[in-house]
Amino acid sequence: MAFSVSIVLEVSKRERMRMRIKHRKSSGFHCNAGSRCSVSVVLWSLVGCILTIYFISQINQNDEENRVKSSNHHFTQELEEIEEEEFHLPAPRSKRNPRALRRKGPRKQHTVIDEFLDESSELRLYFFPDQKSATGPTREMNDSKHFYPGKLWLDTDGKPIQAHGGGILFDERTETYYWYGENKDGPTYHAHPRGAARVDIIGVSCYSSKDLWAWKNEGVVLPAEQANATHDLHHSNVLERPKVIYNDNTGNFVMWMHIDDANYTKASVGVAVSNSPVGPFKYLYSKRPHNCDSRDMTIFKDDDGKAYLIYSSEENSELHVSPLTDDYLDVADQMRKILIGQHREAPALFKHKGTYYMITSGCTGWSPNRAMAHAAEEVMGLWETIGNPCVGGNKIFQMTTFFAQSTFIVPLSGLPGVFIFMADRWNPADLRDSRYVWLPLTVGGVVDEPLEYNFGFPVWSKVSIFWHRRWRLPNWWRTA
Ligand code: GAL
Repeated sequence: MAFSVSIVLEVSKRERMRMRIKHRKSSGFHCNAGSRCSVSVVLWSLVGCILTIYFISQINQNDEENRVKSSNHHFTQELEEIEEEEFHLPAPRSKRNPRALRRKGPRKQHTVIDEFLDESSELRLYFFPDQKSATGPTREMNDSKHFYPGKLWLDTDGKPIQAHGGGILFDERTETYYWYGENKDGPTYHAHPRGAARVDIIGVSCYSSKDLWAWKNEGVVLPAEQANATHDLHHSNVLERPKVIYNDNTGNFVMWMHIDDANYTKASVGVAVSNSPVGPFKYLYSKRPHNCDSRDMTIFKDDDGKAYLIYSSEENSELHVSPLTDDYLDVADQMRKILIGQHREAPALFKHKGTYYMITSGCTGWSPNRAMAHAAEEVMGLWETIGNPCVGGNKIFQMTTFFAQSTFIVPLSGLPGVFIFMADRWNPADLRDSRYVWLPLTVGGVVDEPLEYNFGFPVWSKVSIFWHRRWRLPNWWRTA
């Protein structure tokens, strides 16, 4: 660039000389330094100079765009490579111990999920690798930044990240990502013999990061209530799936979460607010939106600033979608029932090229099950189910969402069509040891179950989540 600019300057100098001589010869008029004609020559040369610089920078910019496009393409291809997993199901316990079989009689078929949930399984370390293989900024070289789905993930202090059922907010002003999730760093127990395994509420953790890989602990930004047993956040209750969005008009960070009692009968949503992404958040209230039971939920902020609450309702048999009020502190009156009778939960939404997509799980508590992708033209529109998005691993991985459950989908600026699918690999035997399964999600290609056709062309693009034992974002994407 500097070279071409000096050529331009050189050319314009020569041009000025030539013009001066030409003028002297043709008109006999002698241009002295500072005369009008030399000023106009200088001005024209300057204009030429600026134009040349502009054209050169345009060429460079196009080169840059092409380079990004081609490295994007290369990167997406890499992410879409199929990685196979192989493991052998150990013999069921009854087979290993014939006396147990005689004692208990014939057992139902032994499944991989039984093995996954069995703390003493030979496959335990395969699903829940131990401390030795923990990953994170204190373990790996900083230039590596690989995600290892299922491995212990350490924060910048070298401690396991506690942000389960979480979601991510990107703060544009500070260009920082904030990860909010359930802090489950307490003992797992059963409040009732037949109830789900639980950990008392500790609060909502917050971590910050510039690159989505090295996470700094910002502490518990919404803590449990210890004394007042009637408070929603009393430690004996349930606080799950916290999500935070920023309200551009009020300047508030607004948190929505699932609030429940230990038996999951309260089935409500809770709202908290802060003027800083790292809290402290002030808890406002809980309610049953539209007088309906609400369990697994998420919130979604659209490009136009409109935000929505999406929650499982009617005993998890359907989902409800409702706009939030302008301040995001309540739901509006409008509500639409979607995926009726499909029994879906753990909703995670994203938008790509004007279409809305959602990933959900089935309703089997802490046990993993098959994910489904859904698509709609409007958030409040008709949602259609377009198939299981999980690709790679093996059949069992695909039928169990890689032994995990959806919680959030992170858009990646500069990588159109690529998202991070965030899921929880729950460990009901020790919930604090639940793992994170983050995988690349892409949109493109033809769906498996195209429900709607336009002149023979399916309306929806395919959503795919690719299994990888180890993967990373491209080097050039964002550096801390
Ligand atoms: C799941 C739900 C989790 C948690 C769990 C308790 O269905 O997605 O967030 O509520 O049940 O068993």
